[in-house]
Amino acid sequence: MKKMISNSKLSKCLMLVVAALAMPTLSFAQDDSQREVTWSGDVAAIFQEKCMECHRPDSIAPMPLLTYDQAKMFAPIIRYRVENRVMPPWHVNPDVGVQNFTNDRGLSAEQRATILAWVDQGALEGDPSTAPAPLVFEEALEWRLEKDMGAAPDLVVASEPYDLAAITQDKWFRPNTPTGLTEERWVKAIEIRPKNAESRRVVHHSLAFLLQEEDGKAGLPEDVDVPFGPSLFMEWAVGKAGQIFRPDTGKLMMPGSSINWEMHLHANGEPVDDVQVELGVWFHDEPPEHRTILSMFDAQGPNSLDIPPGEIAVTQGTFVLSAPARIENFQPHMHMRGKAMSMEAIYPNGQREILSFVDNFQWNWQINYVYEEDSAPIVPKGTMIVTRAWHDNTASNPYNPDPEQWVGWGDRTVDEMAHNWVDVTYLGQEEYEAIVAERSAAGGED
Ligand code: HEC
Repeated sequence: MKKMISNSKLSKCLMLVVAALAMPTLSFAQDDSQREVTWSGDVAAIFQEKCMECHRPDSIAPMPLLTYDQAKMFAPIIRYRVENRVMPPWHVNPDVGVQNFTNDRGLSAEQRATILAWVDQGALEGDPSTAPAPLVFEEALEWRLEKDMGAAPDLVVASEPYDLAAITQDKWFRPNTPTGLTEERWVKAIEIRPKNAESRRVVHHSLAFLLQEEDGKAGLPEDVDVPFGPSLFMEWAVGKAGQIFRPDTGKLMMPGSSINWEMHLHANGEPVDDVQVELGVWFHDEPPEHRTILSMFDAQGPNSLDIPPGEIAVTQGTFVLSAPARIENFQPHMHMRGKAMSMEAIYPNGQREILSFVDNFQWNWQINYVYEEDSAPIVPKGTMIVTRAWHDNTASNPYNPDPEQWVGWGDRTVDEMAHNWVDVTYLGQEEYEAIVAERSAAGGED
C-alpha cells in the first residue's frame, strides 16, 4: 500500500554494500588505476561540474581550483578530502535511504575513483588541447535564487544594524523588524544572507522567525495538530542559500507580521560595524494548495543532552505526525562534536525505514538535503519520525576543542545541539491515498 523500501529490497542493498566492501576495489576503480588518468582528459570536467562553483575567486572557498597548476598544488589534500567524502560538501550516506535530491552536489562513485586515481598516478596534466573549454562564470547575482526565480525578490527585510567589537564572547542579537505587509501573501521562495562581505565574516548563523496573528489552520488539512509557537521561517548558515518550495506549496505571511531575528555573531579580531542580515522573499501569485511547515524534530531537547568526556554519545527523539504528510528534506544541525544524524520513519504497521543518514557530519557545513518531489517520502497519519544523533567527544574528533569536558545543550559552538530541521507538507487523507496509488502505478522504486 504505502510507498516504502520493502525488506527484500533493503536486504539486497545491504548485500550489495557488503559485497562492495568485501571486494578489494570497485571495478571502475580498477579500470582507472590501470588506464592513465589526466587533468585534461578526465579530472577538469569533474572539477568544472563539482568544485569550481566555490573554488574560484569571489566565491566561498579559500583557494581556486580552476587550472591544472592550481589543482596539482593541492593534489594530496584534495585526495584526502575527496576520499573522506568531506569535499565536495555533501555528507549524506550514498547507500542509505532516499538518494534523489534537488540540490545534490556529491560526486558519483566513479567520479570519486577517477580523482583518487589521478592523484595516485602523480596528478598528470595530459594533453591540454583535449581539456574542456574553461567555464565562463556569470557576474555574481545579487541574490543566489534570482536566476531560478527569474526576478529579484518581491520583498526584502533587513535586520537592524549591530556593531560588533573586535574581541568579545559570541553574541546573540535578536532584533524585530516589521515586514510591512498589508495583505496575506503566500511565499514561493526565501533566501537569507548576511547583507555584505563584512557581515559574512562574523555571522555564524541566523534564524528568522515569522511573528504573526493567526489561528494556525490556514492551508492545513482539518485534523492537523502542529505545535505552533513563533514559527520558524528560514535559517541561514555557511553553505546554505535559501529554499524554493514545491510549485504547489508555500508559507503564509500575514498583514502586520514581523521577522524576529536570532543572529549568532562570532567576533574575528577586527571590529565590524553595521552587521546586518537580510531576507529576500518571492511570492506566489495565487495561494498554493498546501502549506509547508518548518519543524524541528530534535534528537534531544534543551537541557537533556548529556555528552560525557571522551565518549561518543547517542541520543534520539521522536515526533508523531498527526496527519499524512510529505517529508521534504533533511537538515541536521549540530556543533563541533556533531558526528552523525539519521532520520527514520516508524510506520503505524510497525515497519521502519531509514529516510536519510548523514554519517560524516561536518559542523562547519550545515547542509539541507532536499528530496526530489517524486522521491520525497509520503507517510501515513501516525508515522513516528525518529531523529538519532551521534556526538563525538573523544580526542579523535579533530574539531573537538576539549575532550576532557562534559558537554550539554547550549547556544555556543562549544556547547551542543541536535536539531533536525524538516519541512513537512501535511496532506489530506484522500490526497495521500491518491499519491500512493500514483506512485505504485508508476512502478516506484519497489
Ligand atoms: C559549496 C562550495 C564548495 C564546493 C562545491 C567544493 N568546495 Fe572545497 N571547500 C569549500 C570551502 C568553503 C572550503 C574551506 C572550508 C572547509 O574546509 O570546509 C573548502 C575546502 C577545500 C579543501 C581544503 C583546503 C585546505 O587548504 O584545507 C580542499 C582540498 C577542497 N575544498 C577541494 C574540493 C574539491 C576537489 C571539490 C570538488 C570535487 C570541492 N572542494 C568542492 C567549498 C566548496
